[in-house]
Amino acid sequence: MIRLYSILLLGLMSCATVTSQNKTVDDKVDDLLAKMTLEEKIGQMNQYSSFFDVTGPAPKEGSAKERYEHIRSGRVGSVLNVRGVKEVRKMQELAVEESRLGIPLIFGYDVIHGYSTQAPIPLAESASWDLEAIQNSARLAAKEAAATGLNWTFAPMVDISRDARWGRVMEGAGEDPYLGSRIAEARVIGFQGDDLSSPETIAATAKHFAAYGFAESGKDYNTADVGLSTLYNVILPPFKAAVDAGVRTFMNSFNELNGVPATGDVFLQRELLKGEWGFNGFIVSDWGSIIEMVDHGYAADAKHASELAANAGSDMDMESNAYVNHLAALVAEGKVDETKINDAARRILKVKFELGLFDDPYKYCDEARESSTLGNTEQKEGALDMAKKSMVLLKNQDNLLPLPKSGKKIAIIGQLANDKNSPLGNWRMGASDNTAVSVVEGFAQYSGNKVVYEQGVKLFDGQEIFAMHIDVNEDDNSGIEEAVKVAQESDVVVLVVGEHGYMSGEGRSRANIGLPGLQQEMLEAIMEVNNNVVLVLMNGRPLAINWADQHVPAILEAWQPGTMSGDAIAQVVFGDYNPSGKLPMTFPKDVAQVPIYYNHKNTGRPGPKDVVFWSHYSDMTNEPLYPFGYGLSYSSFEYSDLSTATVDGKVKVSVTVKNTSSVDGEEVVQLYIRDKVASVTRPVKELKGFEKVSIKAGESQQVSFTLTDKELGFYNNKGVYIVEPGEFDIMVGGSSAAGLTDTITL
Ligand code: NOJ
Repeated sequence: MIRLYSILLLGLMSCATVTSQNKTVDDKVDDLLAKMTLEEKIGQMNQYSSFFDVTGPAPKEGSAKERYEHIRSGRVGSVLNVRGVKEVRKMQELAVEESRLGIPLIFGYDVIHGYSTQAPIPLAESASWDLEAIQNSARLAAKEAAATGLNWTFAPMVDISRDARWGRVMEGAGEDPYLGSRIAEARVIGFQGDDLSSPETIAATAKHFAAYGFAESGKDYNTADVGLSTLYNVILPPFKAAVDAGVRTFMNSFNELNGVPATGDVFLQRELLKGEWGFNGFIVSDWGSIIEMVDHGYAADAKHASELAANAGSDMDMESNAYVNHLAALVAEGKVDETKINDAARRILKVKFELGLFDDPYKYCDEARESSTLGNTEQKEGALDMAKKSMVLLKNQDNLLPLPKSGKKIAIIGQLANDKNSPLGNWRMGASDNTAVSVVEGFAQYSGNKVVYEQGVKLFDGQEIFAMHIDVNEDDNSGIEEAVKVAQESDVVVLVVGEHGYMSGEGRSRANIGLPGLQQEMLEAIMEVNNNVVLVLMNGRPLAINWADQHVPAILEAWQPGTMSGDAIAQVVFGDYNPSGKLPMTFPKDVAQVPIYYNHKNTGRPGPKDVVFWSHYSDMTNEPLYPFGYGLSYSSFEYSDLSTATVDGKVKVSVTVKNTSSVDGEEVVQLYIRDKVASVTRPVKELKGFEKVSIKAGESQQVSFTLTDKELGFYNNKGVYIVEPGEFDIMVGGSSAAGLTDTITL
């Protein structure tokens, strides 16, 4: 093929010149911008989806052919949802070799917990509290994605959420801003590495800016109405952490926040993010979120929506077809200043330069690398390691777990145990269906035991990703009888229950968060005949499993552990891996308690009290089922000798943690503070430090923390960070509930 690309570029003195060695990226961007027409700049601000994967309402305008034509005419800056080197190359050729300036496209994709090889869902990864492992998981995801031609992921989602009904909690780091911030950093660094131009790293996106996780009643896309204290102290910190970690792009959100759709929010995007925080990457809208401002009742039509979004600082339009159709006219009419277009195009081009796309637009398009990377041993080993670290042991009465490796008859029951799809979780478009190792397969290698499988009650028939409703069996309990029979004849039952893979994720909010379908009925029937039940939960959100907690001796929260599910679960159940995960989100006793979170305020009427006038329900406890930070191990740990000292305005904290068991294990040592009197009330507890330590059986370890102004202050209602003197409780323990406490005065 004639390399029109280089000929054109040389002829126009464009890219060949701007990539010359001794210019800074900013110089190169300026040189290129100077050559661009207004339409070409606006083109950079336009992003289309391919037709491979559609991750939003189907594109209303434009056939594939028309869209290709737009790429040729320089009216497209980015494409999302393109799969595989061949297809990426084809599209890149259109932009690079056939458009006037040959500006390469940037290819985005939702690489959320892996591309082809799936690590556990992000909420599960967060349960590891293992920043190194999380960073490594993002690094592996980037490596796989980059090998398929992609150079930009729409991850990490750093939305804090306190509502387990919201389907997208599976995609985040849970309820806590401190843990969420550390994980945001780890993921950004994992995806981007320390060299964005490496062919193995990709640009990351902090999303969804902002307050998407505070959708009223946990219903996706719903309104967020949030006070300033919560906005500054809970919602924004992980976004700020992502900026500080060098994240190159942001995505705004579908929701309105306090009456203004985030996509049109000047304060969030221009003043705070690009202004105060100095973010110099670019902001992509969420899918159609520009045009959706019409439905919000904020914009009159697509043109007005473009005006509002561009003025507010949304740099790239994902699938609204609004900028490409209206921005030029808006500039001509003086409604959008051209400097704003220049700024947006500059930001987008800068990231393209940083990725090295101008030096080699096909650097991610190596088919040999693609085939040797996808699903290779490094990927699988990484996914397995992450999956084991993500699991949380919720209950283990009389040390039922780990199970012996031989000599027992074990019944594995539950449709999910034999499912190779659900364990992959949602947001896994790059994975082929049915590629997870199932629990049944995973257990097969521990064949010293006699293992039998029985499906039991049917949970669902098939899995259709875009189905309006997940068709869960609510009527046919015919499988229970056989399951009970098998349970009766076995020494131990491993009962795998939970949600199927598409029951959480975007658009998958649930009003009830118990075990779906007839699984509860089956569980109760099995418990009648066999007490040795290990409940393995596979789900994308906290579940309300109060009955199970009261009746079942052992419960393992496996989440949706990804490609290596069955191996990971088997290794934990048989004790080859000692569980070390801790919950990143509170588990309620009942959905009626939601939103429920550990770092709540005390109120003026905390309880319990012996009169009714305190903050509580008459028919439900305030206590969660399992608190934030909770998780057991096959080891047991004892905390002692908490000591605190104030040195030069810093607080030094140390504690001794002893492994009192005969098994080596890991513990996440957590430090919480309470600022007892403040000019804006502070929560009853706030996580401000944690360390995951490995302690040999019978041994002790001293764990130390240093608290500085960074941990001891808070944002007041003007968004100003302040540190106020006074008394602070310092609490250290193995969860947000347990702890040694000391009080210091600053
Ligand atoms: C909509 C989702 O909200 C967002 O997170 C995702 O990145 C885009 N669709 C693109 O798939």
